[in-house]
Amino acid sequence: MERRQPSRRDFLGLGVAAMVASACGGCSLLGSQKADVVVQAETGVLRLGEADSSALLGSETNLLVAAEGGNEKILVVHRPDGTLFAVSSVCTHMGCDVDYDKNLGHLRCPCHGSQYGLDGHNIKGPAKKPLKRYSVSAENGRVVITL
Ligand code: FES
Repeated sequence: MERRQPSRRDFLGLGVAAMVASACGGCSLLGSQKADVVVQAETGVLRLGEADSSALLGSETNLLVAAEGGNEKILVVHRPDGTLFAVSSVCTHMGCDVDYDKNLGHLRCPCHGSQYGLDGHNIKGPAKKPLKRYSVSAENGRVVITL
């Protein structure tokens, strides 16, 4: 069997495919994270279980929370001073899930580097719109997010 030599068109096609893949920065592969906790919403409120609440409130950490049957994922961050923040985890640039960066002290998108304050305000682009913010509190040792 004779092997066909790659044509100029084959090389161009490969180049275009590589450019499209790199322009996204791996959005669909890196950018979407599975929720750590899925909670059933009760009249517009997500109430985390005792174990998840205790783990979150016990240290400087974060938890990715989703409402059962919903599309939105909410990143809840607990700071060392005891403050809680809850924002949509969906980056307003191209939809990757943002992470809490302890070293920066705010949120960072792994796809193209946008940064947000813990209350969702923009710090660095390319994202231009803020993250949606949710009300969050600790009530009797349970973390409660108002949708
Ligand atoms: Fe591009 Fe977040 S998806 S910076």
